[in-house]
Amino acid sequence: MPELIPDQAAIAAAARLLEQGELVALPTETVYGLGADAENPEAVAKIYAAKGRPANHPVIVHVAPGADIAYWASDIPAEAKRLIDAFWPGPLTLILKRAAHIPDAVSGGQDSVGLRCPSHPVAQALLREFKGGRGGVAAPSANKFGHVSPTTARHVRDEFGTPPQGPLAAILDGGQSAVGIESTILDLSRMPSHGPVLLRPGHISPQQIADVIGVMPALPDAAAPRASGTLDAHYAPATPVALVAAAQLPGLLEKAARTGKRIAVMHRSELSIINAVAQYHMPATPEGYAHDLYAALRAMDAVHADLIVVETLPVTVPWQGINDRLRRAAFDSAGILERLALASM
Ligand code: TXA
Ligand code: MG
Repeated sequence: MPELIPDQAAIAAAARLLEQGELVALPTETVYGLGADAENPEAVAKIYAAKGRPANHPVIVHVAPGADIAYWASDIPAEAKRLIDAFWPGPLTLILKRAAHIPDAVSGGQDSVGLRCPSHPVAQALLREFKGGRGGVAAPSANKFGHVSPTTARHVRDEFGTPPQGPLAAILDGGQSAVGIESTILDLSRMPSHGPVLLRPGHISPQQIADVIGVMPALPDAAAPRASGTLDAHYAPATPVALVAAAQLPGLLEKAARTGKRIAVMHRSELSIINAVAQYHMPATPEGYAHDLYAALRAMDAVHADLIVVETLPVTVPWQGINDRLRRAAFDSAGILERLALASM
């Protein structure tokens, strides 16, 4: 695949493939998406098959700038329109009541639909070209179910192979995703009874949302719509991941060296790391960290260590989205350290 920004001919070709019911991977500003025509249930079924994703997990529908939201959703609250004006195109997904004619396949059988207008120029060009800008591209992150999301075309090839081999008809290469973690998901489908509910934290913060609609989003309740990115174990590399405070790191590495365990480290502090088989010095800012996060997890996974150790981060609002992803990648951190006999006494 070309490493260049796809030209109009490549984008038109990708749009035709989508219109024919094929799968096309597309770059977005958050992560790469695995796209299919949202109104073609057979095409959407190919997404589920390729990802190995359970059929009751809904996918986000990506629309072109200026798309008619009323085509996809019903009972659209005024808050949705204000958020769209403020944050689209951009990394915010809105869950709204689904319009009656939208296929079950995209909503995983729920009565809602997730909508997002991405800001990446290649995604926008594709959405404008696809069905003359009136279509929707259903696109989950372009990774196997539960794996780390892709932020480069190379990551997508690592997951699914190089087209035409594998399940994808094409991959559009738009460079490395700028944001690096998935969109903020806000549920507005139960506005009258529950108000706005944050289903997944991301680059757009609860405060930014509150500044626009005047209400701070609540955290999910038991009846909130399901979101697979909110399962406990998700975004995980094949190598176990554990979160460890900077102060515990030297002791852990020493113990690992003594017991012959191979450790890969992702650290943010200025630490001199010894005895690690691989290390990634992560950027200091939340923006920089998010940008590098998935590439770093993939790079650390590739050395086949016994464990990837990630230095814990501040638990402040700017780190919310990143901490959410790391907590899921490091699901059962304590148990993993226990089993490797690396838990601190
Ligand atoms: O940044 C992103 O959102 C990326 C890019 C490609 O746009 N997409 C992404 O998709 O992260 P995915 O499928 O990996 O995660 C989307 C999340 C899932 O947890 C899904 O369950 C939830 O959105 N979702 C989609 N439609 C929904 C709906 N109608 N109700 C509740 N959750 C929904
Ligand atoms: Mg995903």
